[in-house]
Amino acid sequence: MPGEMMNGKVVIVTGAGRGIGAAIALDLAANGANVVVADLNATAAEGVAAAIAQTGGKALAVRVDVSDRASTRQAIEGTVSHFGRLDVMFNNAGISQTCPFLEVTEADFRRIMDINGLGVLIGTQEAARQMIKQGGGGKIINTPSIAGKQGYPLFAHYCASKFAVVALTQAAARALADHRITVNCFAPGVVATELWQQLDREFMDHGLTQKPDQAINEFSQSILLGRVSTPKDLTGSTLFLASSLSDYMTGQTVMIDGGMVLT
Ligand SMILES: NC(=O)c1ccc[n+]([C@@H]2O[C@H](COP(=O)([O-])OP(=O)(O)OC[C@H]3O[C@@H](n4cnc5c(N)ncnc54)[C@H](O)[C@@H]3O)[C@@H](O)[C@H]2O)c1
Repeated sequence: MPGEMMNGKVVIVTGAGRGIGAAIALDLAANGANVVVADLNATAAEGVAAAIAQTGGKALAVRVDVSDRASTRQAIEGTVSHFGRLDVMFNNAGISQTCPFLEVTEADFRRIMDINGLGVLIGTQEAARQMIKQGGGGKIINTPSIAGKQGYPLFAHYCASKFAVVALTQAAARALADHRITVNCFAPGVVATELWQQLDREFMDHGLTQKPDQAINEFSQSILLGRVSTPKDLTGSTLFLASSLSDYMTGQTVMIDGGMVLT
């Protein structure tokens, strides 16, 4: 039986077919939200929506490519025609790549900036347009990373894209406050998802590590709380950011990294 903290609020979570986005979607639904599970991978989105329905929650699966404005508009239109409105937008979808600084190509840079940077611009603009049209404000929540606060030599283009997410969050907070739309972001550290499995393989492909999990273990040495994050470690803060408890907060980055980057 869903709880009441999100009490019928309509929330889109992009990149919710797996990993961090899936955990956020499941948690918000468990707290009473109507959740749109949006992902490039429609089958994965449908799987998460079905899991939500099984526990008595309300969910809709939609396919979206966040780097494409028409696709994002379509996902928002689908949300509004199904649930009647849009209250909260999580621009969470993102990609990463391990690549030594001197080897990053123009194609690598553009691909990552298109999804992580431009995708957040488009998602924020299109969600805000809908929120302004319906009136009553709204909340937009983005997912940068510790890589949005520090430049790491094996993730230069990823860091650039995540600094962009923090910049867009601050700019949008200032641009949209008059409409009572708040814009915040949460920055995970090292989270055990399929994304890190990919990064771990790429460390080995570049000859930077010799065995599976070596990269994630070495990268996690500096975590004050002594362990890698699970997606579930993030959902206390994401629920707070999506709920009315965070109403007097905008333009901020909440670090949820076990104490890797101290700001
Ligand atoms: N895993 C980590 O350690 C970590 C740390 C900090 C920040 N993050 C950020 O958190 C977010 C989620 O990461 P994750 O670890 O869950 O990744 P993940 O790779 O496990 O899941 C990402 C999801 O996004 C979807 N996606 C990819 N491109 C898309 C697009 N163009 N349009 C719509 N959906 C798309 C994928 O299909 C996938 O389901 C990303 O923005 C990532 O950069 C992750």
